[in-house]
Amino acid sequence: MGEVYDKLTRCYESVRKKTDFVPKTAIVLGSGLGDYAENIRVIHEISYSELEEFPVSTVPGHAGKFIFGFIDDIPVACMKGRVHYYEGYPVSDVVLPIRLLKLMGAEILFLTNAAGGVNTSFHAGDLMMIKDHISAFAPNPLIGPNIEELGPRFPDMSAVYDKKLQELLVRTAKENHIFLQEGVYAQMTGPSYESPAEIRMLRGLGCDAVGMSTVVEAIAAGHMGMRICGVSCISNLAAGMSANPLSHREVQEAADMAAPNFKKLVTETVKGMAGI
Ligand code: HPA
Repeated sequence: MGEVYDKLTRCYESVRKKTDFVPKTAIVLGSGLGDYAENIRVIHEISYSELEEFPVSTVPGHAGKFIFGFIDDIPVACMKGRVHYYEGYPVSDVVLPIRLLKLMGAEILFLTNAAGGVNTSFHAGDLMMIKDHISAFAPNPLIGPNIEELGPRFPDMSAVYDKKLQELLVRTAKENHIFLQEGVYAQMTGPSYESPAEIRMLRGLGCDAVGMSTVVEAIAAGHMGMRICGVSCISNLAAGMSANPLSHREVQEAADMAAPNFKKLVTETVKGMAGI
């Protein structure tokens, strides 16, 4: 069997020694959702560092652990902190937690992130539902021998973001008076922010928001047949669109400001997943 699958299997065995929790929905908490656990009836927390061979993030604000619990009656697994490709991990490690959550039973994946706004009508603090993505600038996590146990060699990506979940997000935002933009998210590798020329290029390609995560996770989850939805918090206008240089601190501050609405949208949407 392949190295990547062997490692995944060992991580699965490691997590199962600590909990028998079976999530329905997995939620990846991006910047701004760091203290999201307060919305969950927490059953069990496991630090990534407690799991053998599990990739542990080095980014400030991304200290990593799984939080298992309930939102209403929905069993959820939250990832507080994710690892990024730019940290130097192979992309197979970047997507390992997503694959692990699917093996634990998660059928739905709710991806969140902070992103730069590329669409000129966006403002810092906006929330954007991800309708589609551009993966062309990030490494594909499925490169290498196909892991037949997880999914097919050439998975379809024509509807990565589940239509029903998108409808639920739009409906939930409306009901809660939360303004929700919609658009295409592109993943760049980072860690440097983009240049203004790169942002113009991305806009020309039909991209509305840009970040350094999420797409590789969506591809790995799509490969395994998970139903996926995603929301970006537009933490800044992308390079060249405002007079200010970009800084990680400002990105985090803007994400924190949008956090109350972001948390509400995530929580109320997850509650709505009972019916779909
Ligand atoms: N570019 C890339 N990633 C980001 C940005 C950005 O402008 N803002 C937050 N994450």
